[in-house]
This record gives sequence, structure tokens and C-alpha cells, in this order.
Amino acid sequence: MDLKLKDKVALALAASKGLGRASATALSAEGAKVVICSRNAEELAQAAAEIQHQTGNPVMAIAADVSDATQVLELIKKTADFFGGIDILVDNGGGPPFSKFETFDDEQWQKAFDLTLLAFARTGRAVLPYMKQTGGGRIINIISGSVKSVLNNAVLSTAMRMGVVGMAKLMADELGPYQITVNNIAPGLILTDRVKEVLPKDVDHEQALKERAKSIPVGRIGKPEELGALVAFLASEQAAYISGTTIQIDGGSSRSIL
Ligand SMILES: NC(=O)c1ccc[n+]([C@@H]2O[C@H](COP(=O)([O-])OP(=O)(O)OC[C@H]3O[C@@H](n4cnc5c(N)ncnc54)[C@H](OP(=O)(O)O)[C@@H]3O)[C@@H](O)[C@H]2O)c1
Repeated sequence: MDLKLKDKVALALAASKGLGRASATALSAEGAKVVICSRNAEELAQAAAEIQHQTGNPVMAIAADVSDATQVLELIKKTADFFGGIDILVDNGGGPPFSKFETFDDEQWQKAFDLTLLAFARTGRAVLPYMKQTGGGRIINIISGSVKSVLNNAVLSTAMRMGVVGMAKLMADELGPYQITVNNIAPGLILTDRVKEVLPKDVDHEQALKERAKSIPVGRIGKPEELGALVAFLASEQAAYISGTTIQIDGGSSRSIL
């Protein structure tokens, strides 16, 4: 299927690795012009070069911290100036820490708010003028399965990302008339560095992965490129009638019916 993404301009945040990078790669493979950001400039430049080499389409790297307003607004302006607009925003960032509710103080709540809710609101708002100018757009937020069923120690993720779910619903309502769709992707367990880091260190890596996979109906952990494929579809012309939704990608892990 031709997703009609050729020459669309996509900005993928927090994309030197993991889910952001997989999203950028999938969009680039479909012919989009892609800008990626993350904090470590060296890793970011290498990722951009590798994606461009893999897909043959232009990928630009601009280092930025997504929780820093000045850096992010500059990033959005540079993207639009360089490629002449922004059609697709993959909103993403680092995840908040995991621990019990009682352990988080006000400072940690504030940090989680800045990174996982305010940053999404700010970037979503800042791309709108460009999307309105070109007559449409796609905003795709990468959040977490923690908005669908209880995930141990994920209180910061659940609380903040529920805010993103509500915000996306409201944005879909207000922005539909401009042909701008807003959707969330809620991953279960997808094998990225973040997941590798939280695997138990005292058991063999492969064994630890097998243990984690036991509770997943399809019997394995997800691949980043599977999430990338979903991002590319939500960004496509064919997905123009999908808006305000939260789509799980978790191999059937969530036991919630609604
Ligand atoms: N993988 C999963 O199974 C899973 C499941 C549920 C939810 N999620 C969520 O999905 C998101 C991505 O996770 P991932 O697994 O892809 O993580 P990852 O493999 O650790 O990759 C994180 C990426 O984000 C960048 N980043 C982190 N903080 C940033 C910041 N403040 N500003 C700009 N870039 C930043 C990192 O680069 P720098 O460090 O150089 O900035 C890196 O490129 C997280 O919010 C995570 O909580 C993941």
C-alpha cells in the first residue's frame, strides 16, 4: 500500500534510539523528509546518517531536549524553515522513573509533568500554525500501556499520560476542522535500550527476556519496527479518519476490555 508520505515533512522527537528512531525510520522509508532530535548530539548525528543510508531519503539531526521550551521551539522553527513546513509530529520523550507512589516527592512529580505532559502540549501547539498553513497534519503521541491497565510502579507515567489521552481527545475535537488528526500510541513491552536497562541484571539476558515474554499472549516482546509501522500508517493519507484514539501495541498484554 502506498501511504502517500513521499516528501511529507516529519519531525520525530527523542529519536536517536528506540521507539522514536523506529518511527523516524518507518516514515523515512515511506519517502518522508525527516528531522530527528535527542540530547546527545553525537549519537543523534550517527542515527540520522544511518537512517538516511538505509532509506535513501533526507534525514536531518537537530539536538534538543524536549523538556526545554527554548530548544524545542527553535527545533520546530528550524525544521519548518529548512523543509518548508511540518506535516507530521511524532511526539515522544524519555520516560519518567518507576517506583512506588509513596517514594516520589514534589520535585519528581514536577519533572515528570515537564517531560511527559507539558512538553507534549507545547510541541503539539507549536506545530499547529505550519499544519494549518498546509491544510492538514498528523500528531502522533507515543505514550504507554500504563494508561490502559495498571503497571507496577508506573504512577508518574499513568498520571501524566492520562493527561495526554485527555488532551489528544480535546485536540482531535478542535483540530478536526483543519484536517489535523491527533492520536496516541500506547506500547506494552517493546525491546529498546530503556527496556534492556530494566531487565534483572542477575540472570542471563535471553532468559530474562523469555521470562518477561511469558505474560504476553503472542509469546514475545515487541520489535521497535512494529511500532514504527503503526506510526507510518497513522501518518498516512489512508488514516485521515482516525483521530482522538489511543491504540495499544502490546501483543495482547493488556487485560482491560475497555
Ligand atoms: N519501550 C517500551 O517498551 C515502552 C513501553 C511503554 C512506554 N514507552 C515510552 O516510550 C518512550 C520512548 O521509550 P524508548 O523505549 O524508545 O526509550 P529509549 O530506547 O531509551 O530511547 C529514548 C530516546 O529518547 C531520547 N530522549 C530521552 N530524553 C530526552 C529528552 N529530554 N529530550 C530529547 N530526547 C530525549 C534519547 O536520547 P538522549 O538520551 O540522547 O536524549 C533516546 O533517543 C518513553 O517515554 C517510554 O517511557 C516505552
